[in-house]
Amino acid sequence: MRTPLIAGNWKMHKTLRESVAFATALAARAGALPSVDLLIAPTAPALAAVAAAVEGHRIGVAAQNVHWEREGAFTGEMSAPMICDTGATWVIVGHSERRQLFGETDETIARKVRAALTARLTPIVCIGETLAERDAAETLVVLDRQVQRGIDGVTGTELAGLVIAYEPVWAIGTGRTASPAQAQEAHAHIRQRLTQWFGVEASAACRILYGGSVKPDNARTLLDHPDIDGALVGGASLDLDAFLAIAGAATRAA
Ligand code: PGA
Repeated sequence: MRTPLIAGNWKMHKTLRESVAFATALAARAGALPSVDLLIAPTAPALAAVAAAVEGHRIGVAAQNVHWEREGAFTGEMSAPMICDTGATWVIVGHSERRQLFGETDETIARKVRAALTARLTPIVCIGETLAERDAAETLVVLDRQVQRGIDGVTGTELAGLVIAYEPVWAIGTGRTASPAQAQEAHAHIRQRLTQWFGVEASAACRILYGGSVKPDNARTLLDHPDIDGALVGGASLDLDAFLAIAGAATRAA
């Protein structure tokens, strides 16, 4: 049985003070949601303070990116061991904004996944088709390629612990959500591929999140589907009440 995971991706939002205030308030209210895993991904400068604010609570903290090398001349980058040092234990890898705006490829994503796993960070690997790809009926082919290449070299045991986030690019920050049927179709397809490549046990344990304009009013219908194991939430995760409402929907759907 997969525990639902509701993850908030804050992107480049919130000052240090705002981040800590949110994390502290979330920690105070998270106890009311025992059957859902919660996670927040603040900006890099807020990671350590947010990790300290939620310590002792069942709330994960994720970095939004990682470099694959341990250290070196890579200005502006952050390595997996450095993320671990902050107290964060998760990392988002291959978000579509990083693919589109910062040139990430399936190959660099696979290196990042490996670096994260080596450092014992849990990766949330993001995949998803563009609108042009969906319109050309290429969605499932794109997802196959992104999953296969993005987690290249991952073992079945590692797969069981990692998280995949299906985020159709056309649904991110647009207010346009995939219909629950579209999302379930993609998730079921991904799960089927994972079963083919890694076996039933590992595939059944791997959580697949949906992301793309998840809000309190559409969360329940999405999360009711058997292969949708949670949500990666952008805009709505910036507001504590909205984030908790989505987590509440996951609790009821569980
Ligand atoms: P959104 O972002 O919820 O604002 O669409 C989702 C994401 O980018 O993870």
